[in-house]
Amino acid sequence: MMVGNVGKRDMRRPAQHHCHLLLGGTLLLVLTSAALSCPARCECSAQTKSVSCHRKRLPSIPEGVPIETRTLDLSKNKLRLITAYNFSSFLQLEDLDLSDNLISVLEPGCFHSNLALRSLNFRSNQLMLVAKGVLSGLTNLTHLDLSHNRLVILLDHAFQDLHRLTFLEVGNNQLVFISQRAFTGLLGIQSLTLERSNLTVVPTDALAHLHNLIELHMRFLSISFLKPFSFKRLTRLRHLDIDFWPLLETLPPLSLHGLNLTTLFITNTNLSAFPGLALRNLPYLTHLNLSYSRIQHIYQGELGQLPQLLELRLQGAQLLTIEPLAFVGLKSLQLLDVSQNRLDSLERGVFASADTLQRLCLGGNPLVCDCRLLWLLNSFKPPSLQILDIQPECSAPQHLLGRTLRDLKEPLVSRYMTCTKPRIGPNTTQLLMANEGQPARLSCTAEGAPRPSVVWITPHRRYITSKSSGRVEVQPDGTLEIKAAELHDSGVYLCVASNPAGNASLSASLAVKSLGTGDRFHYSNRSSNYLTDANSTWGNGTVLYNMTVPIDMKTILISAAMGCLSFLGVVVFCFLLLFAWSRGKGRHKSNFDIEYVPRKSNGAAADVAETSGPRRVNMKMI
Ligand SMILES: *[C@@H]1O[C@H](CO)[C@@H](O)[C@H](O)[C@H]1NC(C)=O
Ligand SMILES: *[C@@H]1O[C@H](CO)[C@@H](O)[C@H](O)[C@H]1NC(C)=O
Ligand SMILES: *[C@@H]1O[C@H](CO)[C@@H](O)[C@H](O)[C@H]1NC(C)=O
Ligand SMILES: *[C@@H]1O[C@H](CO)[C@@H](O)[C@H](O)[C@H]1NC(C)=O
Ligand SMILES: *[C@@H]1O[C@H](CO)[C@@H](O)[C@H](O)[C@H]1NC(C)=O
Ligand SMILES: *[C@@H]1O[C@H](CO)[C@@H](O)[C@H](O)[C@H]1NC(C)=O
Ligand SMILES: *[C@@H]1O[C@H](CO)[C@@H](O)[C@H](O)[C@H]1NC(C)=O
Ligand SMILES: *[C@@H]1O[C@H](CO)[C@@H](O)[C@H](O)[C@H]1NC(C)=O
Ligand SMILES: *[C@@H]1O[C@H](CO)[C@@H](O)[C@H](O)[C@H]1NC(C)=O
Ligand SMILES: *[C@@H]1O[C@H](CO)[C@@H](O)[C@H](O)[C@H]1NC(C)=O
Ligand SMILES: *[C@@H]1O[C@H](CO)[C@@H](O)[C@H](O)[C@H]1NC(C)=O
Ligand SMILES: *[C@@H]1O[C@H](CO)[C@@H](O)[C@H](O)[C@H]1NC(C)=O
Repeated sequence: MMVGNVGKRDMRRPAQHHCHLLLGGTLLLVLTSAALSCPARCECSAQTKSVSCHRKRLPSIPEGVPIETRTLDLSKNKLRLITAYNFSSFLQLEDLDLSDNLISVLEPGCFHSNLALRSLNFRSNQLMLVAKGVLSGLTNLTHLDLSHNRLVILLDHAFQDLHRLTFLEVGNNQLVFISQRAFTGLLGIQSLTLERSNLTVVPTDALAHLHNLIELHMRFLSISFLKPFSFKRLTRLRHLDIDFWPLLETLPPLSLHGLNLTTLFITNTNLSAFPGLALRNLPYLTHLNLSYSRIQHIYQGELGQLPQLLELRLQGAQLLTIEPLAFVGLKSLQLLDVSQNRLDSLERGVFASADTLQRLCLGGNPLVCDCRLLWLLNSFKPPSLQILDIQPECSAPQHLLGRTLRDLKEPLVSRYMTCTKPRIGPNTTQLLMANEGQPARLSCTAEGAPRPSVVWITPHRRYITSKSSGRVEVQPDGTLEIKAAELHDSGVYLCVASNPAGNASLSASLAVKSLGTGDRFHYSNRSSNYLTDANSTWGNGTVLYNMTVPIDMKTILISAAMGCLSFLGVVVFCFLLLFAWSRGKGRHKSNFDIEYVPRKSNGAAADVAETSGPRRVNMKMI
């Protein structure tokens, strides 16, 4: 710094200065120092061999930049064009900053002499293309910034010599396509930023060349769908950022398959279901941020095992429920952020062990302060648990409205923060008769605070919950609805209503009357609609009604005869048809051409690589 020489000065002065200081320095040294010039209006440092011409309205590289310069800052000027000669004399250039210029053209070979370059910055220029050969030979380059340009496409082998490149920035361009071999040769790359571009699909094949990639930032993209194995062969990738994908609605189960991430951010999306299956194979995940989405429920068993997960953030989603045991696979969870949601409670039973939890953000939810939240009160909560952020407030019951959990004290707590055991009423044993094929409904009206959930156990000991769907369902009011009763539905059903204060049960019997037609053969063996998952822990449903099917000889004979007749009829009809066909043959066209255009994924541009245009299907009538 002592020789730091600002502006337009006599270039001999620093040399003299040197002489005085070094008293008897060799002539050689004097000569080298003397050779260090500094361009007009630029700032130079002889010691670090750097020249800074930042914001000088220069239309081209100024005269007089010393050839031994290592660091050259030409940012915020008006450079437009780089030819093969502009930098050819700076053989020792290591760090070149060309950001904030108007450069639109880079001639091939423009850095052919600058093989020592380590860092090259083209941020905020007007580049539309990086042709093959522009960056060739730059084997020492570690940082390349091409962000904020007008790149539309990355061509094959554009970066092929950059074996040591560690950081590549190509965000904020208008990229619509990344060619399959665009990233070949980038053996050392650790961090890639592709955010804010016009990509409509993940460039899976191009990315697959980046075997050493550790961080991938893909924020602000209009990608609506992730294919299975979208990030294949990125085995070293640890951090993936897919924030601000407003069109992303689901994360299919295999979309992240093959990755071994520790941090995953999928925020500000349109995801509507918790992507539990997609996260299944990420056992080393430590930080997961799924904030700002439309996820409403997290069901028990959906999340699987994430034994290393330390932080889970689900801020500003639209969460209504987190089922008990939902986070039971998160054995190391230390921080949970579910603030700004629509949760009415957060039960202790959600966690494997609430004792590992250290920080919790729960503010901004319409909490019902009942017995389920007692575990968060100061006198009950695990000593290491801090409640961060906005303090959670009660929005019910009426007497606690607006109170923060932190300030709740006795006697309010024991008076109002209570739950009541479910009660099923009216308590009469139901006996319902239904006709085969007709709907049957068994009611179970349960009361309690919080509202109990109802589970029905069938005579076959199948559990039907409000989530079950199919022929047998539980209505929101607890009624069991069988859409079309079958004979084997007969028996004793048990309704179990439970809430955190306890449970209650009620049994009901159903008798399904046979319609007494020949059809009964079908019905006696039709169990295909049944889920067969359950093992009873509660009732031992005893089948009340013996499903004896009265069979008599006459019925069998008649139906056999009917069967034979109709079989013969069909055979004859077929023969007639064949006959007619063979007569008419030759006059009919037996080939059909169907032309269709496959549906395009949002933004047609993505299809550049694929063979586009209508497809043809040829159908032959035999
Ligand atoms: C490079 O050289 C060309 C022609 O000699 C000139 O037009 C251009 O302005 C130069 N570029 C820079 C950045 O100096
Ligand atoms: C590239 O870097 C290595 C070590 O960092 C250095 O020895 C070599 O001279 C550099 N290559 C060039 C062409 O400067
Ligand atoms: C990229 O997207 C922006 C905004 O949607 C649009 O204005 C621009 O024309 C697109 N560019 C290309 C090359 O498609
Ligand atoms: C998100 O999904 C909802 C429901 O499918 C849809 O109405 C909405 O337009 C979507 N938002 C965006 C930004 O695509
Ligand atoms: C996954 O990552 C973890 C830690 O980041 C590492 O210990 C483990 O070996 C990796 N597994 C595979 C299969 O690469
Ligand atoms: C999680 O995502 C939200 C939304 O993008 C963001 O505000 C928050 O800072 C993120 N948290 C962390 C720890 O990155
Ligand atoms: C319902 O009635 C049965 C027997 O009549 C009785 O054992 C049971 O406790 C009653 N349940 C409730 C909730 O009143
Ligand atoms: C119902 O309550 C009994 C006793 O109160 C308890 O043993 C049982 O586990 C409860 N069942 C459920 C499903 O909560
Ligand atoms: C009918 O019952 C038999 C024996 O119980 C069973 O093997 C078969 O799969 C059943 N068929 C259907 C359609 O359920
Ligand atoms: C059903 O119970 C038996 C014994 O109680 C057990 O071995 C089996 O694993 C259970 N099946 C399921 C699906 O839970
Ligand atoms: C069901 O209960 C009956 C009578 O109480 C008993 O004989 C039978 O073994 C029980 N069945 C099962 C599967 O528990
Ligand atoms: C079913 O019928 C058999 C034979 O007729 C009889 O032994 C059995 O007790 C009956 N079971 C029931 C539940 O009625």
